[in-house]
Amino acid sequence: MMNRTLVFGFLAFCLAPVNPAACAQAAGAASPLPQRETLSLDEGWSFHLGDIQPDSFPGGQGVNLYAPDITYHGAKAGTAWGAAARGYDDKAWRRVDLPHDWVVEQPFDEKALKQQGYRPRGIAWYRRTFQLPTADRGKNIELQFDGVATRATVYVNGSEVDHNFNGYSSFQINLTPMVRYGEDINTIAVRVDAEHTEGWWYEGGGIYRHTWLVKRSPVHIATDGVYANPVKAADGKWLIPAEVTLANTGAEAASALVDVAVFDAAGKRVAGARSAPVSVIPQGDAVAKVSVTVAAPQLWSVDKPTLYTVRTTVLRDGKPVDAVDTTAGFRTIRFDAKKGFLLNDQPLKLMGTSNHQDHAGVGVAVPDSIWDFRIRKLQEMGSNAFRSAHNPPAKELLDAADRHGMLVMNETRHFNASPEYLKQLQWLVRRDRNHPSVILWSLFNEEGLQGNEEGMEIARVMNAVVKQLDTTRPTTGGQNKGQLGPDGKANPKNAAQVVDVVGINYQTDEYDKIRAAYPDKPIVSSEDTSQVMTRGEYTTDWNKVVASYDEVYSDWAATSNARNSWQAISKQSSFAGGFSWTGFAYRGEPTPYGWPSASSHFGALDLCGFPKTEFYVRQALFVKDKPVLTLVPHWNWQGKEGQNIKVLGLTNADTVALSLNGKLIEEKKVHPFQMVDWQVPYAPGRLEAVARKAGREVARFAVETTGAPVALRLTPDRDALAGDGRDAAPVTVEAIDAQGRPVPRANLPVEFELSGPGANIGVCNGDPNSHDPEKGNKVRIYNGLAQVILQSQRAGSGSLVLRATSAGLKPAETTIKVRAVPALPTVAVVAP
Ligand code: GAL
Repeated sequence: MMNRTLVFGFLAFCLAPVNPAACAQAAGAASPLPQRETLSLDEGWSFHLGDIQPDSFPGGQGVNLYAPDITYHGAKAGTAWGAAARGYDDKAWRRVDLPHDWVVEQPFDEKALKQQGYRPRGIAWYRRTFQLPTADRGKNIELQFDGVATRATVYVNGSEVDHNFNGYSSFQINLTPMVRYGEDINTIAVRVDAEHTEGWWYEGGGIYRHTWLVKRSPVHIATDGVYANPVKAADGKWLIPAEVTLANTGAEAASALVDVAVFDAAGKRVAGARSAPVSVIPQGDAVAKVSVTVAAPQLWSVDKPTLYTVRTTVLRDGKPVDAVDTTAGFRTIRFDAKKGFLLNDQPLKLMGTSNHQDHAGVGVAVPDSIWDFRIRKLQEMGSNAFRSAHNPPAKELLDAADRHGMLVMNETRHFNASPEYLKQLQWLVRRDRNHPSVILWSLFNEEGLQGNEEGMEIARVMNAVVKQLDTTRPTTGGQNKGQLGPDGKANPKNAAQVVDVVGINYQTDEYDKIRAAYPDKPIVSSEDTSQVMTRGEYTTDWNKVVASYDEVYSDWAATSNARNSWQAISKQSSFAGGFSWTGFAYRGEPTPYGWPSASSHFGALDLCGFPKTEFYVRQALFVKDKPVLTLVPHWNWQGKEGQNIKVLGLTNADTVALSLNGKLIEEKKVHPFQMVDWQVPYAPGRLEAVARKAGREVARFAVETTGAPVALRLTPDRDALAGDGRDAAPVTVEAIDAQGRPVPRANLPVEFELSGPGANIGVCNGDPNSHDPEKGNKVRIYNGLAQVILQSQRAGSGSLVLRATSAGLKPAETTIKVRAVPALPTVAVVAP
């Protein structure tokens, strides 16, 4: 949901539909909604790595720390000590812009937490000052954090105003009574404790998602307060039964109503209605309801993800005082015990992947446009579903999923029915319940209590809390045991009894039994596979490298390789589909090896998004509407002449004929899941495959022995960026031979020079054993590939020119156009 001030037809203003906030602002000039200001607070924070004890407080506000009455003064509002204090001198601190992950900047250390990727974590402080014009007096002022890893304590003007113990949820703080106006300076201080971990994977540390300051009328739409999710009524009519939470931070009770208008993708108003007035007491809230009928909307689907905009406006005495735009997609979803998943009443197998949230070079501080890149990459593989494992995703990921037609299993982090954790679950559902892409709420993953009464009761409470906020999407949980009792029948006391869709993690051998034990419940493979492979390697050394032949997988569960997993899921025609472990590789949980491996060898794509063999396996399994054919491995086996090389033909065709240097080796029938392989005595040259369907050639693919690298090549994912300081694109770095062919076994150091309106925000090569820094102007090409991520500058325009050099090779250059766009409204940085 783009809970921002948008206008219609905004895509026309944008370079690419990847940066909705910027696009929205770009379009803002055409049709402003002046009632609310949503200002980015990402720029200009002061950052200090390490904790600061209050006794380092150098003074300020006349308080002498060593005076006997210090605890008396320090206990009062506005007199926080140390780095939380208003007057604290942070001039020597480093200046950073958000999103920021300090952990990815740290060197690898074998003594640091293995599961978190062998990087020191620690505690850090952030500070930011700002002013508010006197004209803002009387407005509601809210500070918003989209995500801080992992535990945050927030101080404003010397008072502790919040603490947030979930590194994946956003939180908001109503600052209205606590801010100062005019010349006075307001101070935000955030202590971030990343010593604390919430998962067994890389979680990063810092204010790693966006921050905002929102100014609204005292009577306004509460944050995440619009629920406008289209539903199809029993009579076939489409409705948006809107529920809008209004809040009032003014002094008087107020009466207000909401106007809900629906606009199609071209900006044409297609429907609308107004609620009855509701009364909102001071410091209270109230829900205004109105149902809008929309005649014959275009449906949202994975192939054609048509989006509408719902504009919700608050009216007081007939005048608009606040407005929010949300996106909507008209689609029906259904999970059926016999038919699996149905989208718009059509059965659709969920061909999903599970994913964590870090990317190469940037850690968890992932630019919005990189989410878009990741979704596009998974779609290229033929995947139509994404599981956000094991935590709420960035909302920009869901925006990208809405735009591209990717279905999402949205998972909460904590399996916990206590009030604080239920509040986190409520937050998740409220934030994400308008996204057409979201089809499942996952309540847990492999919890120790999942198979007993306690787990069942926790799940029951969490399930009920979800239903209070959204009955249109079922719940599930990633359960790796406990569904069955010792007798092989349904265990009467386990979480699967209360969730709507039974989620099975692994347990491939139990599929039939679980199916029989829950005859009336839909089932999904919430996690499977756990395939490990190292990109570009074809020999396992049992030390730090796993061959990319789809053969090796984790041994701790009945896991399987990609082909067997999908075969087992496909055999269960009633299953909704599956979510493999994983789409992208991720830092931490280094599997199957520990040090020197700092990231896992899981993933159909590596940390940068470069395809591994599993990518091509899944592409052949998932893509139905066009021929797919790939040969694995490369054909550069100098020194292995005459020795057999295992070759995989990954295809959705019926037969593949393989020839080497024009001589047919063998034409083989393709197994629909296992596909086809050969042992080919190596001779340099051209290995070519011809795929046939019903006897007719449908695809050809060849790998060739290349020469030595002679030059570098740079290929940006996109050739233009919005000059908003946010838009970012990965650039692929390759070494090529004299004929311009990428050299698959090249492992070379590369250096970058960048000029123009942008910055290099991270480098990586997908090598799980790499201990090279991910920040800086150097990278090593690993098995033929490396990546550098370029980001535009704020108010940037012109040419961003990247030059890459490597000793003895011809340098390469690429240019990305940075186009001027209206600036994202921001909170100006002021010196304290
Ligand atoms: C699963 C777990 C994942 C990951 C995976 C590795 O059991 O849900 O988070 O640890 O194993 O194979």
